[in-house]
Amino acid sequence: MTDIYEEIEALKAREEAAILAHYYQDGEIQELADFTGDSLKLARAATTVDQPTIVLCGVHFMAETAKMLNPAKRVLLPDLQAGCSLAESCPAPALARFQEQLRAEGRRFQTVTYINSSAAVKALSDWVVTSGNAQQVIARVPSEFEILFVPDRHLGAYLEEVTGRTMILWNGSCMVHEVFSVLDLLALKRRLPHARTIAHPECPANIREHSDFVGGTEAMLRYVASFDQPQDFLVATEANMLWQLEHKAPWHRYHAVPGIACACNKCPHMARNTLEKLRDCLVHGRPEIAWRPEFDRAREVVERSLLH
Ligand code: 13P
Repeated sequence: MTDIYEEIEALKAREEAAILAHYYQDGEIQELADFTGDSLKLARAATTVDQPTIVLCGVHFMAETAKMLNPAKRVLLPDLQAGCSLAESCPAPALARFQEQLRAEGRRFQTVTYINSSAAVKALSDWVVTSGNAQQVIARVPSEFEILFVPDRHLGAYLEEVTGRTMILWNGSCMVHEVFSVLDLLALKRRLPHARTIAHPECPANIREHSDFVGGTEAMLRYVASFDQPQDFLVATEANMLWQLEHKAPWHRYHAVPGIACACNKCPHMARNTLEKLRDCLVHGRPEIAWRPEFDRAREVVERSLLH
């Protein structure tokens, strides 16, 4: 019987494909990838790929972003249903209506949109940010404008704290980061009093305020790597991040902060991509992300925000 890893390697060569995987994918998929990264690193890596095909092992908005930035490439997503609760929380027609209402009130604002959103929402935006570059991009919004930040209210609240800009916040949240249990975090802290807590800025304030470090997944990797001596880290983000932390800084010990309803915090959308679906998308050349009209305007915003 052929090993599925060998099968994927052979198909990757046959199809001239590069595999890009987000840190929230299963470790076995990250292990097979040519590039791993946070949302920002993956978007930038997609523009450097020589191969004609990109397989984006992540969620739908990541594959859309890769296609937008590389229209000539074939971009495959192992499971087309791999969505995002944040993207779902902000449908483009609802955003357009809200912007219209603000304009009718005479408000002068720019729309700053988290990359976890559809291309149609990006097309309605002035800027697109990731957890990795949000502060730098917000510094580019002229002070005479208010900021409408969509769709993550927790990331938005965090950015208000660190940038000092007040924002109009859309009421969206990430289904994974929303449910970390502060009681379990405090119990873990009592058990491991010297541990440092690292939290993604998609976490609500009640988790962030008990954290030693708040940052996106790439920033978390840099933070833990800055400690030479082995330490305990309590990690408040998607549980697969522990694989990458253990991979890049294996001298530390990592403990996943549990969610309210379960012991793990795995994104059900990311989990849709399996080794079998990765193999099958290379065999069949689908699901493929097709170019859509809104990509034209979204591409301008994404390029300006993430590449320049
Ligand atoms: P980063 O990749 O920017 O850390 O954000 C995580 C995320 O929300 C992926 O969907």
